[in-house]
Amino acid sequence: MLRYLVALSLLAVSWAQDCQVANIPVMQNFNKSRYAGQWYAVGKKDPDGLFLLDNIVANFNVDEDGITTATARGRVYIFKYWEVCADMRATFEDTSDPAKFKMKYWGVSALLQTGYDDHWVIDTDYDNYAVHYSCRKVHEVNGTCADSYSFIFSRHESGLRLEDQQIVSAKKHDICLAGKYRRVTHTPGQCENLTPIDSIPVPGPEDEAHQNI
Ligand SMILES: *[C@@H]1O[C@H](CO)[C@@H](O)[C@H](O)[C@H]1NC(C)=O
Ligand SMILES: *[C@@H]1O[C@H](CO)[C@@H](O)[C@H](O)[C@H]1NC(C)=O
Repeated sequence: MLRYLVALSLLAVSWAQDCQVANIPVMQNFNKSRYAGQWYAVGKKDPDGLFLLDNIVANFNVDEDGITTATARGRVYIFKYWEVCADMRATFEDTSDPAKFKMKYWGVSALLQTGYDDHWVIDTDYDNYAVHYSCRKVHEVNGTCADSYSFIFSRHESGLRLEDQQIVSAKKHDICLAGKYRRVTHTPGQCENLTPIDSIPVPGPEDEAHQNI
């Protein structure tokens, strides 16, 4: 009997966590109007390549027609050397699942990357925390993610409340990214003290043309 129970609970663990992108649980009955407004990234799991470093703040807006757009800012290195705060813009396309969006993004400066990524909301209480997930590439052999990134968002610049930390940890585990996150710091005034992106000299064609953020 005990062995049977152990087998059953192992099965439950592997179900909860088969790590196939198609089976990742997202927020139920997601309400994008309540998700709108400002979020501070307090944790992140990077994709392959360069990515935003810190001071990452996103603002989501839902207009009267239900169209979601966002602006985001974060510190990043461009041309390997220049430290800037990148201003990004995005438009969101709804899908059949209200918590899963396709996101088209681009930089306010042409030096920044453009792209088209998933934007999934794994969990949120709308007022304190949100867990975001995006998979850029799926392994064909087993359906797991080959290149993902994720943000842990907080409504509070100071970070997650103690009572939300446990929920967020469980969600990191559900999306198979437990232990893969780094803390995102916020330093007031840091962006303002950096070289404005428009005054950066554009390197020649031998340099990496666009940065992956
Ligand atoms: C979504 O949230 C908004 C703002 O709180 C509310 O007015 C609206 O009724 C909610 N929509 C649904 C479908 O619950
Ligand atoms: C899925 O396949 C990839 C590529 O072969 C491999 O690296 C990864 O470990 C596999 N994941 C699982 C959970 O089997």
